Amino acid sequence: MDRTLAERTKYFDNAATTFPKPEVVYKAMDEFYRNYGVNAGRSSYKLARKATDLIDETRELLAEMVSFNKTERIIFTPSATIAMNQIISGLEWDEDKTVYITPFEHNAIIRPLRYIEKKYNIKIKTMPFNSLTFELDIDRLKKDFEKDSPNYLFMSHVSNVTGFILPIDEIITCADKYNSVTVLDCAQSMGLIPISLQKLKVDYLVFAGHKTLYGPFGIAGYIDNSKIGLKEFIIGGTGSDSLNYFMPESYPSKYEAASQNICAIAGLNASLKWIKEIGIDNIRDKELKLTKQLVGGLEDIYGVAMYMPKDIIKHVGIVSCNLDDYKPEDLGMILDEDYGIAVRTGYHCAADIHSFLGTKHRGGTVRLSLGYFNEESDVDYLIENLKQL
Ligand SMILES: Cc1ncc(COP(=O)(O)O)c(C=O)c1O
Repeated sequence: MDRTLAERTKYFDNAATTFPKPEVVYKAMDEFYRNYGVNAGRSSYKLARKATDLIDETRELLAEMVSFNKTERIIFTPSATIAMNQIISGLEWDEDKTVYITPFEHNAIIRPLRYIEKKYNIKIKTMPFNSLTFELDIDRLKKDFEKDSPNYLFMSHVSNVTGFILPIDEIITCADKYNSVTVLDCAQSMGLIPISLQKLKVDYLVFAGHKTLYGPFGIAGYIDNSKIGLKEFIIGGTGSDSLNYFMPESYPSKYEAASQNICAIAGLNASLKWIKEIGIDNIRDKELKLTKQLVGGLEDIYGVAMYMPKDIIKHVGIVSCNLDDYKPEDLGMILDEDYGIAVRTGYHCAADIHSFLGTKHRGGTVRLSLGYFNEESDVDYLIENLKQL
């Protein structure tokens, strides 16, 4: 019998979305539409209550994962990009505002901030990282903060291009005395790297259901741990307080207009339980082991350049590289066409990192990204075939 395309593909594009999903995710989504696929938070009959309970339980699972106790402050959005837009549009802006970002940001942060810059003439400053060692120059950062004190910090927890785990504790500590607002993009880290909002002073934590949380597309959000309160961004029906012309003041309703993607929430609910059962540390351990194997294999291939810090512990399973004179897109095509290996090539929706890495002129990088469902044999297969080139 013919194997499906998915079965024939060795998948190394988990940073774009983790694939496959745990079996329980498919099952939960199927069950939702078959057994109780009705709207939530609008009616009080039993089926509707079941759908509402599912959403509430999913907020609880997310809260538990990051040691957060205000479940109503977990706001669902259709994607991490929309969550980031919702936060950025909800903040106060004027020309006196200074924002700090890192060289590693995704365009989900860069583009809305550049839009705000154009509109309000704010100052956007990049935190100083060494492009060879990836070390943060903390003394320079302190001086930068003294000169232009930060109002807002936006940073990725994990770079989607290099897999680098940013020293967020150090940065947050450094910014502490300025009373700045911190927005942390955990699209590539939540569910993979332990995070505790009891320990970390983060105001807004953004998550993406379909990446390291192993859930489906269509569900993401942010955790609002801030005292400031955002302006609402998307306005409409919430299923509650229906005679009010304006958005309810209560969380999460104020920030969740429109019907929810409950099917996707059902999938996320299942993936969160799956992560809890396997354990974040075990997922991380497996990925780290595969990352070591991948990096070790790549080091043995003549002509490979890798863009990462030496210390593998500062890494997740995302490895960006280039090979000899191959253009990234050409190498990606050869890997796919000749060997059935799926990777992402190019600039990976991150405008600044390629100036930092020096990969702009050569069309970006080839990004190999691992997930829990990769096996050692997949990495062996990838390395063996790269050696043939
Ligand atoms: C670090 C990071 N932030 C934000 C996003 C945006 O996620 P989405 O496209 O699901 O909105 C991505 C997606 O690649 C990402 O890697």
